Amino acid sequence: MLRSHTCGELNINNIGQEVTLTGWVQKSRDLGGMTFIDLRDRYGITQLVFNMELDPGLCGKARKLGREYVIKVTGKVAERSNKNPKMPTGDIEIIAESFDILNESKTPPFTIEDKTDGGDELRMKYRYLDLRRNPVKRNLELRHKISIETRKYLDSEQFFEIETPFLIKSTPEGARDFVVPSRMHSGQFYALPQSPQTFKQLLMVAGYDRYFQLVRCFRDEDLRADRQPEFTQIDCEMSFVTQEDILNTFEGLAKHLFKTVKGIDIEEFPRISYDDAMRLYGSDKPDIRFGMEFVELNDLAKEKGFVVFDKAELVVGINAPGCGNYSRKQLDKLTDFVRKPQIGAQGLVYVKYNEDSTFKSSVDKFFDQEALKTWAAKLGAKPGDLMLVLAGATDKTRKALNELRLEMGNRLELRGKDVFKPLWVVDFPLLEWDEDSERWHAMHHPFTSPKPEDIGYMETDPGKVRANAYDMVINGVEIGGGSIRIHNKDLQKRMFTLLGFSDEEAQDQFGFLMNAFEYGAPPHGGIALGFDRLVALFGGSDSIRDYIAFPKNNAGRDVMIDSPSGISQEQLDELGLKIVE
Ligand code: AMO
Repeated sequence: MLRSHTCGELNINNIGQEVTLTGWVQKSRDLGGMTFIDLRDRYGITQLVFNMELDPGLCGKARKLGREYVIKVTGKVAERSNKNPKMPTGDIEIIAESFDILNESKTPPFTIEDKTDGGDELRMKYRYLDLRRNPVKRNLELRHKISIETRKYLDSEQFFEIETPFLIKSTPEGARDFVVPSRMHSGQFYALPQSPQTFKQLLMVAGYDRYFQLVRCFRDEDLRADRQPEFTQIDCEMSFVTQEDILNTFEGLAKHLFKTVKGIDIEEFPRISYDDAMRLYGSDKPDIRFGMEFVELNDLAKEKGFVVFDKAELVVGINAPGCGNYSRKQLDKLTDFVRKPQIGAQGLVYVKYNEDSTFKSSVDKFFDQEALKTWAAKLGAKPGDLMLVLAGATDKTRKALNELRLEMGNRLELRGKDVFKPLWVVDFPLLEWDEDSERWHAMHHPFTSPKPEDIGYMETDPGKVRANAYDMVINGVEIGGGSIRIHNKDLQKRMFTLLGFSDEEAQDQFGFLMNAFEYGAPPHGGIALGFDRLVALFGGSDSIRDYIAFPKNNAGRDVMIDSPSGISQEQLDELGLKIVE
């Protein structure tokens, strides 16, 4: 190594030692006879001192060092007179004796500090400079730690890490594929995997029993804070297991990660059925850091002369504790919130439970004090609380109330970033009806097995069939999902037929898997956890970009390398491609 120590490790015990450090010039200060330089590397910052009286030549040279110059410096560790208790190296400084410039640096386009003056776009363009900043470095360190602990746990549970190909054929998992044209087979394309789903199932047919992979997946879908076009999964599959075995194994992984990475013991890992999640939270990824569960009020609210309720399929409310003193203005704001197009409610009914045990509501004309008291009893409201009620078509109303519940959770500061509440959502429907294509779609993916007791409904009442499918949800984020798979050719064929595939299409696209099922496929199932989401959750952020070394921006571009971009005519010709304007 060019250095004897890192910039983060010297302390009072090293006083008097001759050391050599390497790193980047963070900042430099001239104080008359002395020049101080903060030298930074991955491990920390150490203060260097150049003394004009002792060595004017060296000190003069040091004064010319610019920000982000890379240097190698040799000197003696000395106790600081002016200690900095906030820094691990704050008790010492290096009295410089010599230094070499290993490389110069242009002035960086933004400051390399915890709070930088660089905007998003600029930081992404110079991501290698952004990555020098502590907060980003800490995020990548967290990512590293979680990946190492994941591997340790899965290894201890007899999982094999096996790589699967990136140049494959498309697997229909809901999103569009990124495709790669083949030069050797003009007019033909590979697809980048949306996940290694079929390969991991083939590994089970091959007898590998327990597989995992920290694997890049590619999906050409609209981007959001928790979605990137390429992202990483902790992808796993197991043979000879029930759903229960899989839930226990991955509950174990989550607990191990919380314990080893965050020092948190997760006691409970409750389970809730999809139907209950929708009924109580209006979401298949409920945030259970707080209560405020939905209470259905059809029996109390309908047929009392209020036409909005009478027409509604569902009248449903939540109780916001301690919000009974909300002002007119605050209530109007909540009404505006639920009326936003992306939330979609028509309006909001409120009932204030006053401290004197009377009620004041926006539906006083239709509901007297006695009636509102029955609402309060059902919602578990107390004096000082605020009941918020929505009405309309069931699915839409639940969706809107879910947003309102989360909003109230934010307002009441019930969604703390240091509290972690995982749960399993189980018993998902096998299929969902797609209005646009007027077809049944697989809710998880086409390889998911129906519950054996529901198989009989596959052709007669497909919407009723439940799947052996489950999601791991933490703090309202879908961290992972998986299922017990179909391992029987005939059932897989029935599934494809239900999804509207002809026999030829099914054979053409998935013949390899169905054929494999004829050679002794074991019962199997698995799960994939969104690794970027898990890391962001541990880091206390909603945005996965901050936890990826070289992410794409919101438009799916890498502004540093300027991708996607055109290719040369020669490349196009070679690939047999023609750009149509
Ligand atoms: P699924 O499609 O549910 O399942 O994906 C698993 C998990 O991956 C994460 N995820 C994403 N993270 C970031 N950006 C994205 N664009 C993105 N899309 C998904 C989510 C999600 O829960 N093959 C199945 C798994 C299985 O059945 O075993 C699959 O891929 O956290």
